[in-house]
Amino acid sequence: MNDLIRFEKVSFSYGTNNVLDSIDLSVEEGEFLAVLGYNGSGKSTLAKLINGILLPTEGKVYVDGMDTSDETKLSEIRKTAGMVFQNPDNQIVATIVEEDVAFAPENLGLDPAEIRQRVDEAIQAVGLEKHIKDAPHKLSGGQKQRVAIAGVLAMQPRCIILDEPTAMLDPKGRSLVMGVIERLNREKGITIILITHFMEEAALADRILILSDGKVAENGPPKEVFSRKDRMISLGLEVPPVTDLTLRLIDNGLPLEKDIIRPEELVEALLSIKEAAH
Ligand SMILES: Nc1ncnc2c1ncn2[C@@H]1O[C@H](COP(=O)(O)OP(=O)(O)OP(=O)(O)O)[C@@H](O)[C@H]1O
Ligand SMILES: [Mg+2]
Repeated sequence: MNDLIRFEKVSFSYGTNNVLDSIDLSVEEGEFLAVLGYNGSGKSTLAKLINGILLPTEGKVYVDGMDTSDETKLSEIRKTAGMVFQNPDNQIVATIVEEDVAFAPENLGLDPAEIRQRVDEAIQAVGLEKHIKDAPHKLSGGQKQRVAIAGVLAMQPRCIILDEPTAMLDPKGRSLVMGVIERLNREKGITIILITHFMEEAALADRILILSDGKVAENGPPKEVFSRKDRMISLGLEVPPVTDLTLRLIDNGLPLEKDIIRPEELVEALLSIKEAAH
């Protein structure tokens, strides 16, 4: 079993409300997975099943081979897979940034020098060095969300699950937080599971998983998933704005590929059309 996260025929119900129905899923170490689905499709439920906040009604969830229903493994599971939620205000516990980031490693009982090093590294990874002594409540939403990410990073998890981390942020805050998430994945090899309603964020992932009616409706590379706009719409979603624009340019006769999902790809394709015209 090389998968860091593995769902085996996982079903979950809140009382009589069956939310997830026999889900199979595996996420490899180092992968960046985006999870999409309309409101109420079970994305947050799926996230909470990963680190044992919720337990499956049926089936099994494994984190690095550890069964989340094994209580003796729960603290090790939560060290391996950390969670970041939508609202940064609900995740900040201390009155100074560095104390907030130190909170979890202090609870692990690590020695002070180790804690100091982890806190400094985590704050540096999210680019908040200048705010280390600030009061979190005085920071912007995007900065607070980066404090929350640093708090999880200080646990040195192998996987971070982020449940709509940019939903409350302005465009600049969103792009800074997404930059941090991408770097943690590409440079530090941390496995990322990102739940989002922003298609352009999902376009940055290695793989997209779409939930619908309690099932996995799509599971594949962003280019493959986003190249079928009708299918996305039937799942209550859309394609990234740049893909929409590309499809309109194609309708207007420009020779472009339909699977353009990132702005830089469209720029490059348009430039090569311009070159060819000279
Ligand atoms: N604590 C709860 N008790 C009862 N029902 C719940 C609870 N939390 C969620 N649900 C229900 O379970 C279903 C899935 O909810 P979930 O929060 O997992 O969806 P989601 O995909 O994260 O939605 P959103 O996009 O709105 O965040 C919904 O029908 C919701 O009403
Ligand atoms: Mg949710």
